[in-house]
Amino acid sequence: DWTMAAFRETEIAKVRAQVGKGRVICGLSGGVDSSVVAVLLHEAIGDQLQCVFVDTGMMRAGEAEQVVSLFRNHYNIPLVHRDASDLFLGKLEGVSDPEKKRKIIGATFIDVFEEEARNIGGADFLAQGTLYPDVIESVSFTGGPSVTIKSHHNVGGLPERMNMKLVEPLRELFKDEVRELGRELGLPPDFVGRHPFPGPGLAIRIPGEITREKLEILRKADTVYLEEIRSAGLYDEIWQAFAVLLPVRTVGVMGDGRTYDYVCALRAVTSTDGMTADYYPFSHEFLGQVSTRIINEVRGINRVVYDVTSKPPGTIEWE
Ligand code: XMP
Repeated sequence: DWTMAAFRETEIAKVRAQVGKGRVICGLSGGVDSSVVAVLLHEAIGDQLQCVFVDTGMMRAGEAEQVVSLFRNHYNIPLVHRDASDLFLGKLEGVSDPEKKRKIIGATFIDVFEEEARNIGGADFLAQGTLYPDVIESVSFTGGPSVTIKSHHNVGGLPERMNMKLVEPLRELFKDEVRELGRELGLPPDFVGRHPFPGPGLAIRIPGEITREKLEILRKADTVYLEEIRSAGLYDEIWQAFAVLLPVRTVGVMGDGRTYDYVCALRAVTSTDGMTADYYPFSHEFLGQVSTRIINEVRGINRVVYDVTSKPPGTIEWE
């Protein structure tokens, strides 16, 4: 597509002009946006780029391995794999307020990036995959008064003291345009088609306090849910699908025994830009099958519910 080919060239020239001979740290999350940024920057500035995959301890199952193999093996782009799970989970201990969680996660990301910058002898820039909707939604809500709905960690959460400047080549793009750019840059189609995954990760899919135990339960439920969506051939029809672990226990019965376990909520929406969304109309059979599998296979969950809220008035994530 000529438009994206032109955008690619223009952005490469802009990045070169902005960065000069400086060094750039790029945080990879495993999502489409940061991957596109990394590949674009690698094309623009080559060795001046250092990518960092930060394992926050709140990633989905298998995420780290997938990112590392794509970038190190396929692209040969320098990548540090940093396990920062103790740091993140430690700072989040006892925190249950959604905005506090987001702010802590945003600030901790910056701490880690600054440390990684020192490890390579200093960096002048931090590259991020901020998109246009992130910018809008972190500032105000369309048509309403200027109120922060959520501090997207990559927009609202940056501390003033950070001494790296930002490089954000996707700041004017919507998701579908980023995917087009990804294809233009030759990213594998299944990678370009991945559902969005938020920077704060599973932290915002566990309302209330985050524990390792809850993260483990949620990862398993999420894996089962997405397996079912893929095998039903629905993955590409859906903008985003994920499980949420509620901080509520309910009574159930299993065999001859009583259970008292967590509730898992399933979410799936269609959307074109993430700014508005409709819940996905799964068949009852499909929902029943996912529910049965999660309850049978994931210890700690004994009840599954489906979220039928659109955006607005709901948001896509629960926090
Ligand atoms: P909401 O929940 O605001 O989400 O309707 C809209 C889209 O943005 C994603 N999202 C985030 N992405 N950092 C990100 O990189 C964040 O802090 C963040 N919060 C929400 C969400 O997954 C959905 O695709």
